[in-house]
Amino acid sequence: MKSTSLKLADFKDSIFGVISRLARDHQAVNLGQGFPDFDGAEFMKDLVTQKMAEGHNQYAPFHGTPNLRTEVSNYYKNLYQLDYDPETQVSITVGATEAIYLVLTALTNPGDEIIVLEPFYDSYVASIKMSGGVPVPVTMHAPDFSIDKAELENAITPRTKMIILNNPHNPSGKVWNRDEIQMVADLAEKHDLFILSDEVYEFLVFDDAKHVPTATLAGMKDRTITVSSAGKTFGLTGWKIGWICANPEVSRVCRLVHQYVTFSVSTPMQEAVAEGLKQLPQYIPGFVSVYKSKRDFFYAEMKKLGFEFACPRGTYFMMVPISEKTKLSDVDYAMKLIKERKVATVPPSAFYLKSNEGSKYLRFCFAKKEETLKEAIANLSLEA
Ligand SMILES: Cc1ncc(COP(=O)(O)O)c(C=O)c1O
Repeated sequence: MKSTSLKLADFKDSIFGVISRLARDHQAVNLGQGFPDFDGAEFMKDLVTQKMAEGHNQYAPFHGTPNLRTEVSNYYKNLYQLDYDPETQVSITVGATEAIYLVLTALTNPGDEIIVLEPFYDSYVASIKMSGGVPVPVTMHAPDFSIDKAELENAITPRTKMIILNNPHNPSGKVWNRDEIQMVADLAEKHDLFILSDEVYEFLVFDDAKHVPTATLAGMKDRTITVSSAGKTFGLTGWKIGWICANPEVSRVCRLVHQYVTFSVSTPMQEAVAEGLKQLPQYIPGFVSVYKSKRDFFYAEMKKLGFEFACPRGTYFMMVPISEKTKLSDVDYAMKLIKERKVATVPPSAFYLKSNEGSKYLRFCFAKKEETLKEAIANLSLEA
């Protein structure tokens, strides 16, 4: 038989699948899976039923329904004073995952280098490889997951096309401040690079943290491609509605790829999200307070168990240092916790290509019901 594609030669089952399978086998509480184990916004479910009843059930225009593109454009304008023309600069995708794939496929030529800041969301490297590009890792150094400017600049070569920035950041929970984004923006401008800004957790920021979209920095709107996700914003990850906001030429090529990969995205879901986005100002405070109380509870309990780390100010993840607890690597400790303590987490070394900093941490997801979090803490306390 002929061989399968060499592009996929070093692809493996994602770490999330592996951990979830083990969690099931060992009946472990699953804090590895990066999504809520409770339902999302109730009013959104009513809206989608209504949209189906109203007959929004055939193929949508391939780049998204006019209502949704308009509402996405409106919220970028209202919240961030960013102008995106819904006709030419907003494109609807099957979640942010498809958006990331489209951007990389549409912009990458074979051999182009794409800088990924590690630890990274794992679909970046996979999409870079599928597009024929070369991932170039630059490490965000623990404990504050900061980037060293010289290290980032040294990674840039004439072949560099893009830097992928994820803010708020999965898995660390870091919310980038304006100066940090400005440093990356200055390098992008100096070396004429695109920035793919993955902002799917834009509303999940706590305490005094403020989300600064990369495109709002002076001169950055045209070279920034912003990706976000209604699945994250409404706590309905299974809806898989995302978007790309980019300049007209980048949008045009992303739409070309989308046209042949998925063609169009679920119509009633898009129409419901369009209505839902009109209600963002009323909806967001309650959404944030639910997640903030989960974060506060889980962080306090982890501290009581003797895990010492700074409280993350964004997303629903915590990178918890394990070296005080064990000499084992992240992978071995994660396996031990699943088997012996019935708690599943993600070993973050899977999110690094270069540094071994990930082997000293575990990623916990606190987007879980109170009883799930309590059960995990009770199980972990037997380890302390
Ligand atoms: C950083 C980041 N980007 C993108 C995604 C994918 O979002 P979606 O579910 O909209 O495809 C995730 C999901 O976990 C994520 O954590």
